[in-house]
Amino acid sequence: MGIKLTARLQKIADQVTAGHSVADIGTDHGYIPIYLLKNKISPFAIAGDINESPLKCAEDNIADNNLLDSIETRLGSGLSILKPKEVDTAIIAGMGGLLISELLDNSKEIAQNLKTLILQPMQARPELRKYLVSNNFVIEKDILVKEDRHIYEIIVAKPGEQEVSDPIYYEIGFHINSNPKPLAIEFIDRKIKITKEIIQNISENASESSIKKLKEMNSKLKRLEEVRLCL
Ligand SMILES: C[S@@+](CC[C@H](N)C(=O)[O-])C[C@H]1O[C@@H](n2cnc3c(N)ncnc32)[C@H](O)[C@@H]1O
Repeated sequence: MGIKLTARLQKIADQVTAGHSVADIGTDHGYIPIYLLKNKISPFAIAGDINESPLKCAEDNIADNNLLDSIETRLGSGLSILKPKEVDTAIIAGMGGLLISELLDNSKEIAQNLKTLILQPMQARPELRKYLVSNNFVIEKDILVKEDRHIYEIIVAKPGEQEVSDPIYYEIGFHINSNPKPLAIEFIDRKIKITKEIIQNISENASESSIKKLKEMNSKLKRLEEVRLCL
């Protein structure tokens, strides 16, 4: 049985270095480890999930692909299912950014011993970038991928020090220019539109406490428009 990944999952799988063993945390269907093994990108993978029913779904798919020898399934939360240095790369995709930060924070030793972390947060991306930067990770890539109408963000990080020259990079990523120009423009334009809507909302309901927020949003809008001009 061949595996055809969606654009989002394919972009995530493309970030795995050939030869790296992988843990896919919150694997659900198990498609990423199956793809990595079938295409001989990884020699070995661990597929983990906190819930029995998605793990069973992954196990069935792994068995259908005759990969029970090279993909191990484990029930449990986050990176706690791993031993330090057991795998080279961990993938955590399709969860909220706050949950991803929590899972990394709960298993600091394991996270700090990974060569690569491939993270695809569904929300709270700036908060996840802030967590990574304040906890000794460097963000090597910020990749955008469009699937249907949605633009997903993939963060590739590794242990190290990240320099932050401007807080706007928490919002748009540190490597926006490495993405295809039309996609980067669409991504920033969406952020500009949302920021303008927030400014309009705050202005209509102006109160003492909202003045600070309005200032913040106006300076964010200014920076986004500057970034847009440089793309
Ligand atoms: C929306 S699915 C994402 C599946 C896949 N990673 C993807 O990107 O398509 C989220 C999966 O994460 C699992 N999950 C949620 N919290 C988890 C945790 N703390 N540890 C491991 N898995 C978790 C859920 O059971 C579910 O299977």
